[in-house]
Formats: sequence, structure tokens, C-alpha cells
Amino acid sequence: MLTTPQLDGLVQRLVAAFTEEQDLATRRREVVRLLGEYAHTEGDWKELARFSADHYTRNHVHRDRSFELLVPCSGQGPPTPIHNHEGQDCWMAILDGDIEEVRYAMPPAGHTGPLQSLGARTFATGEVAYIQDEIGLHLVRTASPAHAGVSLHLYAAPYDECNVYCVRTGKITRKRLVNDTVRGRAVGRSGARIS
Ligand SMILES: [Fe+2]
Repeated sequence: MLTTPQLDGLVQRLVAAFTEEQDLATRRREVVRLLGEYAHTEGDWKELARFSADHYTRNHVHRDRSFELLVPCSGQGPPTPIHNHEGQDCWMAILDGDIEEVRYAMPPAGHTGPLQSLGARTFATGEVAYIQDEIGLHLVRTASPAHAGVSLHLYAAPYDECNVYCVRTGKITRKRLVNDTVRGRAVGRSGARIS
């Protein structure tokens, strides 16, 4: 039986934050504060972090109608595909290692041709990144191949599919999202692992 009291406490505080009547800006600030606090001070995510040699893993923590919490872990494999976030908010708190995010402009409907790069930024342990479709698309990867990267992702609201983009042609492919583990237990389903 996994014991993750600090992570469970974080989930409880997030559920409260998404239940309270408050404006969007206040809620977003609270999410950043809670995720950053956990990423700075707690380590019980290690109980449910699972790695693969050749791909990112999606390790499920919590999902309800308002938000989903995952612990994606990257080894030395390839980065995530370039993807959108289905019009939802996505936060990424760094739990271990450095994670590089490369952003691209959201292409207009019907666009063909290369995606426009918006640059890259590396986030260190304890930092919290945020993206949504109005900001653009992104890929994420561990910044130092010798060191695994672990992050805590919060999606509000949850979604089951997203767009994946070809950097060269702009071609969009629809991908179903699947998890590798649920609370540390392998679930072994096929599909895309996109963070
Ligand atoms: Fe993402």
C-alpha cells in the first residue's frame, strides 16, 4: 500500500481551491502557490514515480471533474511530441532535475508548413511553469540527459485527447492520452503519453 501523506494533502488543498467560489486569477495564483510549495518541500512523489528507458511515463495521482494531477517522469528517451492543451490550463511544477520547455506559436486553422518557434526555457526543481493554448504549443524534455526529470502536472479541466503537431509540416494528429500507472500500479494500456 502506497503512503503519500504530503501528496494526499496537496490533493485535498487543490480540491478545496477548485471548490471555493473565487475568481479565476485568484484560483490560478493559489494553484501555483500550492504546487510550488509541494515541489520545494516534499518528496513522497517518489513512492509512485515510475520510469521507462524509452519514453515519458504518465503516473496518475488524482482526477475529478475540475482537475487532473499527474507525475510525468522522463528518462533518457525522446521529448514529448509538440502538443496543445485543449483550451485548458496546464501547470508544471518541477520535482526533480531540470525540465526544458520549447514553445511554438499556435498555427492558424488550415496552416501548412513549419511551426514558428517561440524559444526555450529551462525550469529547475521547485519552479512552476504554466501554459494554455493562447500562449502556444510546447514540448517538454529533461534538460540534462544524464539526469531524469520528474514533474507534477495539473490540468484544469481534465481531457482525454489532444492535438500533436509535426514541427516541419504543421500536420495535426489527434492522440488519445493514456497513463502508465495509477497510484504507482502499472495499467499497461496503449496510446500516446503526452505531458
Ligand atoms: Fe503539455
